[in-house]
Amino acid sequence: MKVDKVLGVGCTYMMYRVAETTRPYNIPTIVSMNTVMIDGTGMCGACRLVVDGKTKFACVDGPHFDAHKIDWDIIKSRRKTYLQEEIVSYERL
Ligand code: FES
Repeated sequence: MKVDKVLGVGCTYMMYRVAETTRPYNIPTIVSMNTVMIDGTGMCGACRLVVDGKTKFACVDGPHFDAHKIDWDIIKSRRKTYLQEEIVSYERL
């Protein structure tokens, strides 16, 4: 079966995995990065991405982007911003 295009909508980790799954097969892959948006006005900066080496904002420039052009390392790093606080919070439960 030939796959012409893949669309990914979900958490950032899932979309990252989709991108890495389709990349070796060179299947055009679009992801919806609204999951990183907060206010959706272009004011907070929370949805900032690097796509094809250029800074983009999901709420202004997207939310759909070529998954193979997104710098996923930055997004993965950002996901760990509050990791220590989350661990402490979890341990206090
Ligand atoms: S969601 Fe705040 S700048 Fe895009």
